[in-house]
Amino acid sequence: MAINICLLGFGTVGSSVYNLIQTRKEALRELLGDDLSITHLVIKDTGQKRDIDESVQLSIDFLSAIKSGTIDLVIEAIVGVEPAFTYIKSALEHGIPVITANKEMFAERGVVLRQLAKENQTVIGYEATVAGGIPIIRTITDLLHVNKVSRIEGILNGTSNFILTDMRSHLHSFKKSLKAAQDLGYAEADPTSDIKGYDAFYKLMILCQDVFGKQPNREEVTRIGIEGLTSEDLHEAAKKGGRMKLVAEAFIDDSGRIHASITPKFIDKSHPLYGVEGVENAVTVHTDLLGALTLKGPGAGGMPTASAILEDITRISLQMPLKSKRLQKIKQVQQAAEAEVSL
Ligand code: HSE
Repeated sequence: MAINICLLGFGTVGSSVYNLIQTRKEALRELLGDDLSITHLVIKDTGQKRDIDESVQLSIDFLSAIKSGTIDLVIEAIVGVEPAFTYIKSALEHGIPVITANKEMFAERGVVLRQLAKENQTVIGYEATVAGGIPIIRTITDLLHVNKVSRIEGILNGTSNFILTDMRSHLHSFKKSLKAAQDLGYAEADPTSDIKGYDAFYKLMILCQDVFGKQPNREEVTRIGIEGLTSEDLHEAAKKGGRMKLVAEAFIDDSGRIHASITPKFIDKSHPLYGVEGVENAVTVHTDLLGALTLKGPGAGGMPTASAILEDITRISLQMPLKSKRLQKIKQVQQAAEAEVSL
């Protein structure tokens, strides 16, 4: 019996997860001791043609899929706070582990969902919400227990970093570079979120929650996107020996107040973020024992995000046998039926 997955959404991320599970079938079986099987796909429009196995049940009704009692794991790859929050809440209340790539939803409701997961003896994985394939969440939550982090600084949006790099190095217009980012599957369906800094804002809020245990007052966070930058600005920065980058940063002061901003910044050659180019993201964590630790890698696109999701699956499966709840339920139903027969 395989580990049954309900996948929510079949855009760039959802379809990449589906494909990765097919292409890594044997390796995943070896790692998890079971096959991963996407049995349900929940999407807005079931009429649209998709390249999926005919055994996958297509539906617009997530709650029925959850109530079917056949799902071991939910992967959520849709956009926006709702209906994602309601769906995930329901899955967790049924004790089903969830993995999400939805940064806006998790930045807003992550605390509630983590609590709900705890109350229902299950888990929610969210590595894919921040910086694509870079394992920054796990580094912060699992590997930096003793170090005290006072400040984080990063390039958290692949699309805007790609646009700035492309405009500077290929002398493309903003419009042309944005179109290339969209064609490569980096940008959000509505790229406003990338360009105006909202996407980086959500990711920074998730990082603040993990690093400082709370988020700053949202109204006090400066958020400036890249839409005001011209090719001249980028070349001017190059002439001065640096680069313009959309930098997200946050630090906590002695009174415990978090100061956060997302803003285009001049970065000189000696800065760890200077060499972060194209779709790459990077996060520098300033800690008291280690000093500055920088993680850098592919920050957007289907495969890096799917990679983060698959890594979350393997981590969660080590924490809890993914099929155990469903098997327990089946056993209970069988025992009840047997008890009835013997009466
Ligand atoms: N649109 C996002 C980005 C996708 O460009 O970084 C990854 O979260």
